[in-house]
Amino acid sequence: MTLGYLHNELLKRLRVYVAPRDVERTLMALRSSDHIWEIVERSQVPMRVLCTLLELLNEHGLVDVFNGSIKLTELGERLCEENDIAPFTSALCKSCDGRTVDINALGSSVIEEFKRISSERPEAIQEYDQGFVTDETTLARVTFMLHRGDLHGKEIAVIGDDDLVSIACALTGKPKRVVALDIDERLISFIGSVRERYGLSNLSVVRHDLREPLPDWMVGAFDVFFTDPTESFIGFKVFVERGLQCLKGAGCSGYFGLTHVESSLNKWRNIQRFLLESGAVITDIVDMFNHYVNWGYIERMRSWCWLPVKVHPKGTWYKSSLYRIEWLEPIELPKVRYDGNIFEDEEAATT
Ligand SMILES: [Fe+2]
Repeated sequence: MTLGYLHNELLKRLRVYVAPRDVERTLMALRSSDHIWEIVERSQVPMRVLCTLLELLNEHGLVDVFNGSIKLTELGERLCEENDIAPFTSALCKSCDGRTVDINALGSSVIEEFKRISSERPEAIQEYDQGFVTDETTLARVTFMLHRGDLHGKEIAVIGDDDLVSIACALTGKPKRVVALDIDERLISFIGSVRERYGLSNLSVVRHDLREPLPDWMVGAFDVFFTDPTESFIGFKVFVERGLQCLKGAGCSGYFGLTHVESSLNKWRNIQRFLLESGAVITDIVDMFNHYVNWGYIERMRSWCWLPVKVHPKGTWYKSSLYRIEWLEPIELPKVRYDGNIFEDEEAATT
């Protein structure tokens, strides 16, 4: 048995991209955990590829599945030894969880107020591919924006806001204006009621289906956009294209998240190419910055049936990298309507 054989078998069985190091990363994760969701998180291999690889390892007696766990067999351990594959080792900074920023820079009243507000938020629903991040994540996003000069005096558009980024931004009192855009009526009325209760006059909220072009008054009107796109390539493009269209021009910036769970490194590359071709530069990528709270529809998501071990996660497992881009040479982007299902592609796992 060789790593090359496993890679080739994956290519035969799958229609999606398999990265050259996916087998190595999976084995590293397997050497460090027998819990499927930790393996998903640590391997950084798309679930579509990972689940097929685990099936393959099982068929060849390299892993054992029992009692809700998945473990390398002696044969599997030997394969790792022969190829010098060490267990995954986390070396993240413990005080910021690897996010690079300290949320205390926002001040304790913003932090406390935000946590109180977020505890009353509506549940995530599958219909809009929702799944919100932890309070610490939303606060760290705003701290990151503060640090990069993207908060004070800025006009900020939040495109899809189940993470309540607009509220956290507005609570700091620093932005000139924050506009949240979402399709979900429940979120619209929640953000609206927070605006009234907390007297956040710099915050407003608009109901909009992103498959439709932006309302005219939003085009070219903002300094910063923030969005957490759905991860099909087309869905990503819809969200980020709309984000860029909100911007006033050169020097404006944008933020979004991207996972390894649902996006292969090849999709990362296509996305990066799209960004560069749109006249933007990627200034920051912070790995695993965004931590998502486990959502209620896990057994109904697409990847549940791929899992070799059907157990619920012990902790946060769905994480995404934070991207920041800056627009250098704005180009004209199409103001078109996108039809049909923008949420799914071959790599989608949580829709
Ligand atoms: Fe740190």
